[in-house]
Amino acid sequence: MAAAAAAHGRSHNLTLVMALMICVQVLLVIMCCSSMCLVKADPDPLTDFAPNVTTFTFKDLNQNGVINVGPGGRRAALNITIFPALISQGITVVRFELLPCGTNPPHTHPRASELLFLVSGGPLLAGFVDTSGVAHLDIIHAGDVTIFPRALLHFETNLGTETAVFISGLNSQNPGTLNAGFSEFQIPDIAIASALYTNIPTLDKIRANISEFEAGNLEALQKSPLAHCVPGKNISDFDNVLRTMGIGNQQHLLRSLLKSA
Ligand SMILES: *[C@@H]1O[C@H](CO)[C@@H](O)[C@H](O)[C@H]1NC(C)=O
Ligand SMILES: *[C@@H]1O[C@H](CO)[C@@H](O)[C@H](O)[C@H]1NC(C)=O
Ligand SMILES: *[C@@H]1O[C@H](CO)[C@@H](O)[C@H](O)[C@H]1NC(C)=O
Ligand SMILES: *[C@@H]1O[C@H](CO)[C@@H](O)[C@H](O)[C@H]1NC(C)=O
Repeated sequence: MAAAAAAHGRSHNLTLVMALMICVQVLLVIMCCSSMCLVKADPDPLTDFAPNVTTFTFKDLNQNGVINVGPGGRRAALNITIFPALISQGITVVRFELLPCGTNPPHTHPRASELLFLVSGGPLLAGFVDTSGVAHLDIIHAGDVTIFPRALLHFETNLGTETAVFISGLNSQNPGTLNAGFSEFQIPDIAIASALYTNIPTLDKIRANISEFEAGNLEALQKSPLAHCVPGKNISDFDNVLRTMGIGNQQHLLRSLLKSA
C-alpha cells in the first residue's frame, strides 16, 4: 500500500518535471521566434518574383517615380504599384536632390534600415538617435556611405553650396516614413506639452506652422531657416565639433539643429 503510494508519488513528480521541461522548451522556442522576428525585415520570397511581373527595369526613376517636391528639394521613390517587380523582394530605393540648407526632416522607417550613398554635392550633416537617446552624427562627403539602423530617428541636412544628390537603399518593399514633427503634433496637447516641456499657446503656433508646411506632404524635403543655415558656412562648425568632441556634444548639436529646423 505504502510502496504503491510512494511509486504513485514518484510518477506524479516525474510528470511534473516533464511538464515543467516542456514549458521551458516552449518558452525557449517562443523567445527564439520573437527575437528572430525582431531582427527580420520583410519575409523571404516564396517565388523567384511576383506573378505577372514581366519587367524588371524601372525607367528614369527621377522622372517616373513617386515624386515629392518640397522647399528643400526633390524626392523620387518607388512603390509596388508603379514597380511590381519589388513585390516580395524586401528592398527599395529612393533618389534625393537636397538643395543647400535643405533638410530631410527627422523621421523613422518602421520597416527598414537605410543605406545612404552621397553621389555628388553636399556635404551632408546626417545622423540618427539610438534608443539610449544618444545621437550619432557625421559629415557625409560625396562618395561616402552612411547607415541609419532600422526604425531609428534620422535626418540629413545639406551644409554645402551645391545640390546633394544621394541614393538610399532600404530593406523593405514598403519601408514607411513616420515624420517626427508632424506625427508628434497629431497627439493631444496635454501629452505633447509634457514631452516638449512647453505650454499650449506655443504648441498652437508650432502646429499652425506644421500644418501649413507639411500636411499632405509628409515626405517633403524642408528648408532650414537661413538665420540658422548659411550655405557652405556651417560645414567647418559641425566638422570641427564632430571631430574633436564627444557624444554629449553631438547630442547638444542635434538639439540645436532640431530647434532651428
Ligand atoms: C495574373 O494575370 C492573370 C491574367 O490576366 C489574372 O487572372 C491573375 O489574377 C493575375 N495574378 C495576379 C497575382 O495579379
Ligand atoms: C504608388 O504611388 C502611386 C502614385 O503616387 C499611387 O497612386 C499608389 O497608390 C501608390 N501605391 C502604393 C501601394 O502605395
Ligand atoms: C512659424 O513660422 C514663421 C515663418 O517661418 C516663423 O517666423 C515663426 O517663428 C514660426 N513660429 C513658431 C512658433 O515656430
Ligand atoms: C551656421 O552658420 C551661421 C553663419 O556662420 C551661424 O550664424 C549659425 O549659427 C550656424 N548654425 C549652426 C546650427 O551652427
